Formats: sequence, structure tokens, C-alpha cells
Amino acid sequence: MVILRLPEEIDKIRASNHIVAEILSILRERIAPGITTADLDRLSEELARKKGAKPAFKGYKGYPYSLCISVNSEVVHGMPSGRVLIPGDIVSLDFGVNYKGYYGDAAITVPVGQISGEAMRLIETTEKGLYHGIKEARTGNRLGDISAAIQRSAETAGFSVVRDFVGHGIGKNLHEEPQIPNFGVKGRGIELKNGMVLAIEPMVNEGTYKVRVLDNGWTVVTQDGKLSAHFEHSVAITENGPDILSVVH
Ligand code: MF3
Ligand code: CO
Repeated sequence: MVILRLPEEIDKIRASNHIVAEILSILRERIAPGITTADLDRLSEELARKKGAKPAFKGYKGYPYSLCISVNSEVVHGMPSGRVLIPGDIVSLDFGVNYKGYYGDAAITVPVGQISGEAMRLIETTEKGLYHGIKEARTGNRLGDISAAIQRSAETAGFSVVRDFVGHGIGKNLHEEPQIPNFGVKGRGIELKNGMVLAIEPMVNEGTYKVRVLDNGWTVVTQDGKLSAHFEHSVAITENGPDILSVVH
């Protein structure tokens, strides 16, 4: 069942997502050659706790960290470590919190120093794909309209969309119905309604869409070792169209 939220509830999910957006923007500024992914994880947790929020991923299905940090060929669920970021890396930061009972969840991909033109094009294409998907998040549309818009924009640019991981509803749980694939057919799937809150999160690969999970049980990497990027926003469907909750105002 897909839950329809009242405007008051959407504002509570917004408050949580504001915290996420603010923290992601601080982390983005900290990213530079020499910092380790564990440094960023510690900082994310410290910032969340200062705001009275709980890191949402820590302990979720046993995940041991606050932040997911996926570097280069890592797609999602990369684990913070002593890895030192170097110029040319691309780094996906995926962060979530629980604040007063409601969840926020968002992700960005950030360059470290100077990166290749192709890596920059991958990052930009993935972010644009997210916004193409968000544009379709309006009442009367179908879930497949979001999925198809994301897929089309990534594939038109010559990239591929990951099949094995999807976006999700969000609210009183980190993951709620519906699942939101980043590929699909326009006009298919459930009808979208005002009050739905969706975490839309395209994962776009430079080469094959195929992925595998490392032996640590978490880190998802591309099968061909090529780059991957990830962007995510939590979005409410309202009578005024899509309302992006995970932005700092
Ligand atoms: N944003 C991701 C998601 O929506 C990360 C959660 S995975 C976790 O699934 F297990 F680390 F929490
Ligand atoms: Co998510």
C-alpha cells in the first residue's frame, strides 16, 4: 500500500530532509584530495547529532556506518574506510536521518579535484536524469513515467541505468512502497497521487548496467569496473506539482 501524507506530515518529512540536504552540502565542501571516507562518515554523524537527528543508515539491516560513500566504480552502499580521496575520483555521498520520527534521504556525486571530461559528463547526466524523473512526479501520471524519463535521459547520453537497486517511498520508514525503478515504460505502473512521498535515486553507469556486491556484503560495484554516479532527492507529490524536500532553502 502506498501511503498518502497530509501537508502537515509532508512538512515533518521536509524538516528531516532539510537536515540531510544541509549536511550533504557541508560534506561536499569538505571533499578534497587527502580526506578519507571515514573522516566524512564521522563528520556526517556529528553534524546529525548536533541537530538532534539520528543517522538513518547506522544499524539499518546491520549497516555499520552513518554515510554510504561510493568511489569511482562503486555504485552504492560503499563503506567508509581509511581510503584517501585523490584528484580524479568521483565520490557518491548517500545520507539519511530520522528526525522526530520521520526520515530524510538524499544523495549527491562530487568530483575530487580535476576529473576527466567523461566523468563530469556522467555526473551531470545522472543529476539531470534525476530532475527529468522529478518532473514526472505529478498527480495523474504513472510511476513508469518517472522511470522511463530517467532511463531515456541516461541512455540518450550513452550511459546505462542500474537495474538491481531502486528508489522508494519514504516517511515513517526509510523504505516504503512503492519501489521506483530507474528504467521502465511510460504509462505503466501505479497512478501517482497527491500526498505520495518518493525517494527517487538514479544510479547511472558509464559502461554496463550490471553490478555485483563485494564480499563485505554491502559495497555494490560495476561489473566492468567503469564509473558510476548516484543522485537522490526525496520528493512530495502535491497539487502544485513535485515538491523537492531535500533542498536547503
Ligand atoms: N539511500 C540508500 C537507500 O535508500 C541507502 C540506504 S542503505 C543502508 O537504500 F543500509 F545503508 F542504510
Ligand atoms: Co534512498
